[in-house]
Amino acid sequence: MSVSNSVGMEKPSSSPDLASVLRWYIDAGVDETIGDEPVNRYAAQAAQPAPALQPVATVATPTPITIPRSPVPAVAAAPQSSASSAHLAQACKTLDELRVAVESYDGCALKTFATRTVFADGNPKARVMVIGEAPGEDEDRQGKPFVGVSGKLLDRMLGSVGLDRATNAYITNIVFWRPPGNRKPTAEEIVLCMPFVQRHIELLDPALLLLVGGPSASTILANPQGITKLRGKWFDYESPGLPRPVPVMATFHPAYLLRSPQQKRFAWRDLLMFRQKYDSLTPV
Ligand code: URA
Repeated sequence: MSVSNSVGMEKPSSSPDLASVLRWYIDAGVDETIGDEPVNRYAAQAAQPAPALQPVATVATPTPITIPRSPVPAVAAAPQSSASSAHLAQACKTLDELRVAVESYDGCALKTFATRTVFADGNPKARVMVIGEAPGEDEDRQGKPFVGVSGKLLDRMLGSVGLDRATNAYITNIVFWRPPGNRKPTAEEIVLCMPFVQRHIELLDPALLLLVGGPSASTILANPQGITKLRGKWFDYESPGLPRPVPVMATFHPAYLLRSPQQKRFAWRDLLMFRQKYDSLTPV
């Protein structure tokens, strides 16, 4: 819930001190403040061309279909900032260099509000790369992805098919800083982080990619369809920096499964298919 000065709720009547006004807002469920006048930030961006994303995802079975190359969601970012994240990302030759580049990057406003940069967790030699949406409060505090309640469920989901971050899985997100109040990352924030995410995939060079949740799936697959449509299917993720296309599957986000446990059976099916593919990989 957000609040402007003109919020239509009854405020404490006698002249309260600032702390009690703040307490009143918090008790009313307010977790974000906005200005008196609306600002249309999309109008300012509409004139800018969307930066082209190089990698492209194709449906792997039964017949490959080329997915349009536009980034999703298709809202342009400030070209200078995304150009600079692309430039910084391309210069990185190792995961350590990429981590340093992300930690030093100041072009994404999310960083201003975050306590820590959340880069990744898991085995950098893993053949499975898991990509989620955005760090939450626990992740922001610990500097690691998926360490809160939904992270515990993700660990159980991976564990149910013999995967875990200590040995054979590597976990990251499509943005590296916690959005204030756990809101969804905006299109602009995602576009700014994308060059780092794409380079992250190239440098890890996974054999399989698992995308958890709608924002991760639609961004990485460059496909605006919802997670219900995208989950449980194989796509190919291609990038000039990868030696071969990487099979990729999307599934439901654990936070969603905690709210809608009846959907767990679909996630279970997805994970079984994922494990089957994992078992079919040629040993390294
Ligand atoms: N949800 C995500 O998508 N990523 C995290 O790191 C934590 C929660």
